Amino acid sequence: MPGKQQTTFRLSEKGASIKALKSQKENVGEIDKYEVLIKVKSVALNYRDYAITTGVYPFPVKKNVVPCSDMCGEIVQVGSEVKDLKKGDKVISNFMQNTLYGPCTDWHSGLGGPQDGVLQEYVVLPEQGVVKLPEGDKMTNAEAASLVCTGVTVWNALYGNMPLKPGHTVLMLGTGGVSITALQVAHAAGCKTIITSSSDEKLKTVKEKYGVTHGINYKKFPKWDEEVLKLTNGHGADFIIETGGIGTIEQSVNAGAYGAIISVIGFLANVPPEKRPDVAALALSKGANVRGVMVGSRQQLEEVTRFAVVNDIHLAVDKEFPFSDSGVIQAYEHLAKQGHIGKVCIKVCD
Ligand SMILES: NC(=O)c1ccc[n+]([C@@H]2O[C@H](COP(=O)([O-])OP(=O)(O)OC[C@H]3O[C@@H](n4cnc5c(N)ncnc54)[C@H](OP(=O)(O)O)[C@@H]3O)[C@@H](O)[C@H]2O)c1
Repeated sequence: MPGKQQTTFRLSEKGASIKALKSQKENVGEIDKYEVLIKVKSVALNYRDYAITTGVYPFPVKKNVVPCSDMCGEIVQVGSEVKDLKKGDKVISNFMQNTLYGPCTDWHSGLGGPQDGVLQEYVVLPEQGVVKLPEGDKMTNAEAASLVCTGVTVWNALYGNMPLKPGHTVLMLGTGGVSITALQVAHAAGCKTIITSSSDEKLKTVKEKYGVTHGINYKKFPKWDEEVLKLTNGHGADFIIETGGIGTIEQSVNAGAYGAIISVIGFLANVPPEKRPDVAALALSKGANVRGVMVGSRQQLEEVTRFAVVNDIHLAVDKEFPFSDSGVIQAYEHLAKQGHIGKVCIKVCD
């Protein structure tokens, strides 16, 4: 579409504030023979996107970046050498563009950080940079977009090492996107699930809508690790989705079973350096597998997408905001306030 203009958001000043997100008119990108042009329909936000605007994201970010990694859209143009995709296909982006299988080897190909992302009307990606929704898909565009980062991260945490089995107990911290996605996957996989939250109201909703086995309010029960042990007859959780980081890892190890897989994913809970636990000693004390999780590969995105379609899982979309200057700011503010359950999305078009 040579010469066609589109609305693109860019982060004019990294680390300034959400208000540094500004839209502008730019030319729609042109594809080469191995690329596709996608009309973006929905973008899902992650805590990372907010952390990038406020400067607390600990990994590289390009200057004046087009933010956001997660989109679902429709292919409108294909390059002459593209083999497996065609016009009209519904696709989602692969977070780490260069990681097709196996472990991620760096953070440099992540969309919306070290390279331009998807908060724009059209995006050009290589054929292998997207995953097509398989037959039988009944997801909304927002639900499908939500699979990109949280879906693949959760799949990596639960199946990327020792695979989850029916009957295992999975512990999630908080009710954000990663945790609720993990709950939905673990529930569908026949596991016992325990989730923590700052709010009884959120816990009630999570029980009613997503069937969590047990909820613990970590404000009312600051020793939530001991509650997990009680709820598992002293066994502990077999898998832990560690979204807190250094501020929660000590309690997570305590809440874990001997040999538990503790996936270190997030950095929501900080503590001053003098209060930082000795993670090596903690891991040794429980024979725990404390494993850093770097999103995941395209192969894992295909696997979690297939799992979601076959099990008719619809990722929890808390709210979808309009694709306008005020809509985008409101979406980021909604995420920052942490009143949401699951994902916050931006509807780019129908
Ligand atoms: N390593 C990776 O590849 C990867 C991939 C995806 C995400 N992440 C990271 O994982 C974390 C979660 O991401 P997200 O997108 O799911 O975030 P999110 O949707 O913004 O979730 C935030 C929620 O976490 C809970 N929370 C906040 N502070 C907490 C604390 N101190 N202890 C326990 N829970 C707390 C709150 O829920 P309640 O009010 O219910 O407590 C809050 O609403 C972030 O740090 C993100 O950067 C990493």
